[in-house]
Amino acid sequence: MEQRSQWGTRAGFILAAVGSAVGLGNIWRFPYVAYENGGGAFFIPYLFALLTAGIPILILEFTIGHKYRGSAPLSFFRMKGKAAEWLGWWGIFVSFVISTYYAVIIAWAMKYTIYSFNTAWGDDTGGFLFGSVLNLADNPGEVGGLVPGVLIPLILVWAIAIIILLAGVKRGIELANRIFIPLLVVVFLLIVIRAVTLDGALLGLDAFFKPDLSKLADSTVWVAAYGHIFFSLSIAFAIMITYSSYLPKKSDITNNAFITGFANSGFELLAGIGVFAALGFMATQAGESVADVATAGVGLAFVVFPQIINEMPGMNGFFGALFFLSLVLAGITSLISICETYIAGLSDKFNISRTKSVIFGVGLAALVSLLFATRGGLYFLDTADYFINQFGVAAIGLIEVFLIVWVFRKLDVFQVHANEISDIRAGTWWRICLKYITPLVLGYMMFDLLRINIM
Ligand code: PHE
Repeated sequence: MEQRSQWGTRAGFILAAVGSAVGLGNIWRFPYVAYENGGGAFFIPYLFALLTAGIPILILEFTIGHKYRGSAPLSFFRMKGKAAEWLGWWGIFVSFVISTYYAVIIAWAMKYTIYSFNTAWGDDTGGFLFGSVLNLADNPGEVGGLVPGVLIPLILVWAIAIIILLAGVKRGIELANRIFIPLLVVVFLLIVIRAVTLDGALLGLDAFFKPDLSKLADSTVWVAAYGHIFFSLSIAFAIMITYSSYLPKKSDITNNAFITGFANSGFELLAGIGVFAALGFMATQAGESVADVATAGVGLAFVVFPQIINEMPGMNGFFGALFFLSLVLAGITSLISICETYIAGLSDKFNISRTKSVIFGVGLAALVSLLFATRGGLYFLDTADYFINQFGVAAIGLIEVFLIVWVFRKLDVFQVHANEISDIRAGTWWRICLKYITPLVLGYMMFDLLRINIM
């Protein structure tokens, strides 16, 4: 038996957890979700979701990992035997699927970092993405066949992930996050400072912050807030259980959860400011309104941002490269956290070395990711992402919390464990959130999703 790995320092663990949470979602998803769901008013459901589900579940998952010291399936097995082990595998399966397309997006961002220097995408940024990068130009419906240009950056992404993961928890994951996260913060601050000093930035910020209070009466806004918090904090993916299983015995759980949660939200807010300031500039240049240019995801990062970079005065190539570099850094630190779930799962289950599970698990993910690097891969990617986000996350979160609280009845034991060392207590507030609020809200979300998708 190999000795179980441990984080070297508390800061190392927190940086790794923040590294997992801060990802593409913070940069390209949050700004638009907030804008669409009430702008400034969205902060109310958002904070509510963070405090009633995000942080309480983070505390729960940190407790599980720390108490049972195993990968997600092993931790659930130790909690309640075979009847619970599958929960861990489900989280791992979802993580595996995400890792296969997340890597492809990081690969595109790498390509675009290089393209930025001479704005190689030209004036028609949409045509460039779909034509030159994704090779869809001649026949939009056609799928299949590897796109050679994506292959090299994709291999590079996997190579970086594998090198970090092979080096282990302390000398690989912790070290990488110690370098990448501070670097990401510096790079992103530079982008935000540039963005808010552009012409029209205020217009964008106004659109982002202007509160539409009437939205608060709309249940979809609350569902959006909960859905986003789950994805953004990487909870219910087996990740936080895995990472906290490497905590030393004497570790402060609740405090770490609060720091992780707030750091992630802080970054999200910063991204909202940067993205919308840039969109305000874009709208001003194009003589359009912010609503016309605001969007999320692939379209925001690879179509609208290149346009913004085209228009930017002075050192535009440099700032463009910084933007795509920030996507790469945020993406890689999340990617390694998702891969670690199945590396730990395989090692625990089959009693094999870390090296073997990295080669086998990440190798398989890399092979599957080729599917998304084909012509039309974007469509597979969209479909996978849609189902994972809609069903995977909320469903696992709901079932995980419901089983632990109401079926396995572990809340008391976990509360004592979480409170062993900490200046912040998981008290009545924590119990009420997990017993009632989270199951009710997530139950409603699932019901709503089924209704929309089936009827
Ligand atoms: N939390 C990451 C983000 O905001 C996404 C993520 C989800 C990462 C699941 C890993 C696992 O982008």
